[in-house]
Amino acid sequence: MPAAVVIGSQWGDEGKGKIIDRLSQSAQMTVRYSGGDNAGHSIVVGNQNIALRLVPSGILNHDALCVISNGTVINPTTLLEEIKTLNQLGIPTDHLRISDRAHVIFPYHILQDQQQEIDRAKNGEKIGTTNKGIGPAYMDKMQRIGIRMVDLLEPETLESKIEFNLQQKKRLLDAELFEQLPSAHELANQYLEFGKTLKPLITDTSYLINEELHQENKVLLEGAQGSMLDIDHGTYPFVTSSNPTAGGASTGTGIGPKSVDHIIGVCKAYVSRVGAGPFPTEQLNSIGDQIRETAHEYGTVTHRPRRIGWFDGVLLKYVSQLNGFTDLVVNCLDVLSGFETVKISTGYEVNGNKINYYPASDNLLEQAQPIYRELPGWSEDLTQIKSFDELPLNAQKFLHAIEEVTETRISAFSVGPDREQTVEVNQIW
Ligand code: GDP
Ligand code: IMO
Ligand code: MG
Repeated sequence: MPAAVVIGSQWGDEGKGKIIDRLSQSAQMTVRYSGGDNAGHSIVVGNQNIALRLVPSGILNHDALCVISNGTVINPTTLLEEIKTLNQLGIPTDHLRISDRAHVIFPYHILQDQQQEIDRAKNGEKIGTTNKGIGPAYMDKMQRIGIRMVDLLEPETLESKIEFNLQQKKRLLDAELFEQLPSAHELANQYLEFGKTLKPLITDTSYLINEELHQENKVLLEGAQGSMLDIDHGTYPFVTSSNPTAGGASTGTGIGPKSVDHIIGVCKAYVSRVGAGPFPTEQLNSIGDQIRETAHEYGTVTHRPRRIGWFDGVLLKYVSQLNGFTDLVVNCLDVLSGFETVKISTGYEVNGNKINYYPASDNLLEQAQPIYRELPGWSEDLTQIKSFDELPLNAQKFLHAIEEVTETRISAFSVGPDREQTVEVNQIW
């Protein structure tokens, strides 16, 4: 039984958590493979509203193992807080497993994140990171000085590894930031305690996942962030430091690429973005405000207001190709009720030339004027809709137009945040 992967197809917050929660009900394992606590995933089941950061969104299925795999970066302080909060809500977490190869976020990564944003601001290029130390933790991984979960189980060597890292950071951080850090000894004691607490969960997760696949069980891979935040393929440098795209699911878990045969893209019926960077279809007007307020578009982690724009067909087609989407899920269709017309970009005009591909240059993207296809809107409340045929004709036409421009089949759409408000048009998995 091959694995399925769920991938954000815009700039994050597409409603991946909700879809993963739903699909994980029939899986034997859910695996979060990239990013860290920069993510925020909301799940709504009846009157329970759960916000997750690093714990996989399959956690509500107690019969399926929930794995945080090697491609992630883990802040043990926030992970333990998240586990505690879930337990207080009556949600058990003993089915959680953590990769011994995942890299660990330390307080110096968070300070380094701050430092880089201060320096970038002087240059007018602030990224607007979540300030969780994600970029610096991945930098250390690539620089081969990172500290992994397995190191938290080895008291003989942890302190000297931290000491070496602190020497490196002293060269990078302004003195007043560096002085905020505890000593190597204090950090080692604190992180060895984390190691002791998490030890029952820490294991070789690549082996676990491959065993599950070998037994023909259903494994669901959970992407965080979004394809346009991908370090290779997104709107660089306004991206995160990992590969949320489909390829990242293989390196981030330790399974072969042939093991994945369902590649499910998740998008909204419009686009949202938190943080800086180009956003061709952005609506800095009453349309953007109306969508933001209707959908409560404020960050789950940082509570920042999200930037809003019309559905970008150029972007979605690019992302569908990058990932090889087999299915697309369109969330938040209910939010567009009440607009006289709704828009989908089908190309961009740059310096008088029409293009229908996604340019690498952020200068070009800043100048790109979307060419829109304008469709008639609908005024009906969609939140109780249970099938495609029940949708107003104009909403049906809107979904068909998305399929056309993205050349990807829509397998589900949703009309509200609740698990039961997702309507499957084709069985997704
Ligand atoms: P994720 O990061 O991709 O998991 O998405 P988030 O949970 O951060 O953000 C998606 C937001 O949209 C959450 O507040 C969801 O509850 C909400 N949401 C998801 N699907 C729908 C939908 O179909 N309609 C409405 N109105 N809200 C939705
Ligand atoms: P989920 O999984 C939306 C954005 C940040 C910033 C950029 C870099 O909830 O969809 P980082 O802290 O990763 O170095 O920030 O990436 N970002 C997200 N935006 N949803 C997310 O995750 C995000 N994770 C990172 O806002 O622009
Ligand atoms: Mg989110």
